[in-house]
Amino acid sequence: MIQKSFNHLDQAILEKLKAICGEGRVLSYGSNLEKYSRDESNQESAEPDVVVFPEEASEVSRILKLANKTGIPVTPRGTGTGVTGGAVPCLGGIVMAMERMNKILDIDVDNLMAVVEAGVITDDLKRKVEEKGLFYPPDPSSMDMCTIGGNLAECAGGAMAVKYGVTKDYVCGLEVVYPDGTCEKLGGKIVKNVAGYDLIQLLIGSEGTLGVITQVTLKLIPKPKYSATLLVAFNSTDTSACVVSEILKQKIVPAAMELLDERCICAVEKYLNCTFPYSKAKVLVLIRLMEHHESVISNMIQDIKKVCKRFQPQYIKEAFSSKEEDVLWKVRRSVRPALKALSPDKISEDIIVPRREISRAIKAIEALAKKHQMEIFCYGHAGDGNLHVQVLRIKEDEDTWREKTPNVIEDIFRIAIDLGGTITAEHGIGLTKRSYLPMALGKKTLEIMKNIKEAFDPNGILNPGKIF
Ligand code: LAC
Ligand code: ZN
Repeated sequence: MIQKSFNHLDQAILEKLKAICGEGRVLSYGSNLEKYSRDESNQESAEPDVVVFPEEASEVSRILKLANKTGIPVTPRGTGTGVTGGAVPCLGGIVMAMERMNKILDIDVDNLMAVVEAGVITDDLKRKVEEKGLFYPPDPSSMDMCTIGGNLAECAGGAMAVKYGVTKDYVCGLEVVYPDGTCEKLGGKIVKNVAGYDLIQLLIGSEGTLGVITQVTLKLIPKPKYSATLLVAFNSTDTSACVVSEILKQKIVPAAMELLDERCICAVEKYLNCTFPYSKAKVLVLIRLMEHHESVISNMIQDIKKVCKRFQPQYIKEAFSSKEEDVLWKVRRSVRPALKALSPDKISEDIIVPRREISRAIKAIEALAKKHQMEIFCYGHAGDGNLHVQVLRIKEDEDTWREKTPNVIEDIFRIAIDLGGTITAEHGIGLTKRSYLPMALGKKTLEIMKNIKEAFDPNGILNPGKIF
């Protein structure tokens, strides 16, 4: 539990919040606020004094105006699927839960744009646009629960980033409420925009520290008609990166290229109580293709298989129907719950390196695990060089493990930085990575970032304690 510096809200403030939102949309002490005290990082928690559920930007504006005048911390929250403590109200105060602003306002097939409120569940939007033959590609693994607003706040990625990019590549417009309560629009249903500094991109990934995003205009693309998956298992860690970069070097761009190391495969087998045909593999690579023409897919599959065969795969399996593809992807979908089942004490890292360096990163992490005698598992988005390095407590007692982890994490980040990468690719800094940010950025850059925060939020009310 973090020490709060803010004490309970007085009754007068509560009454004002109730006047803005109505009695039913204000939860305060006496209610169960536990759900709003944590996120999926499970490392930090702190109860808010009150949770408000705005339904309109005008309410968000009035709440922020009140908080700004009275110096009350406000922590915006989607559904709390973040993994770096971004939605944890570490100084108490108000949690602004955006879950009721969940309307898909417009799917504009003429302009290939969708306009949604911030609390829309990502997968709901994906399914709705697909009904119209369109596609919103970002696919964070929590997409059936997370919100578009949260995706913007963290600049969520996902497996499809290899071909389609991440959340920031799809945002054309925003409605934002600044910390003083001013509500303004940026951009719109437009694909180009150079009117002034790009505050849209600055707000994306700002982890709820600069403004509350209430509405988003997203670019859509035509939905590829055909999809296929290739699962390839190798006996050596070395080959995985070679395969990934060799595929790209051949100018083949799959939608996704995911990876699981040996330990993750074992963990999933244990979790699902099964034995995979690639049971003893060192590395598993899952490659998904999405294209508009069937012949393109079959040619790509042939070409990818040719590349893979050069690296002597232990096992190859292909799938062409969504049902068969689902079977192959089950191992990847199950890795997070499988690791969670192995141990509730789990630190989840999110490093990124140039794609060619993945094998080097995995090997360095294996050596690190040996050196510190820690249980470390690697999986993630190989096609982007983005690895989710998981440090689990399995055998050690809790105190020893907690004592050792900060050094191990620092070493993991050092590996990423030394290979030309950085400390987080899609999960953000939040609370849990704050102390490591100076490893990734120069002093002057950090100072400029702090000045930006100050310019947006001079009273420091919005999501205080995060990033820096
Ligand atoms: C994933 C999340 C952890 O890729 O980013 O599973
Ligand atoms: Zn991920």
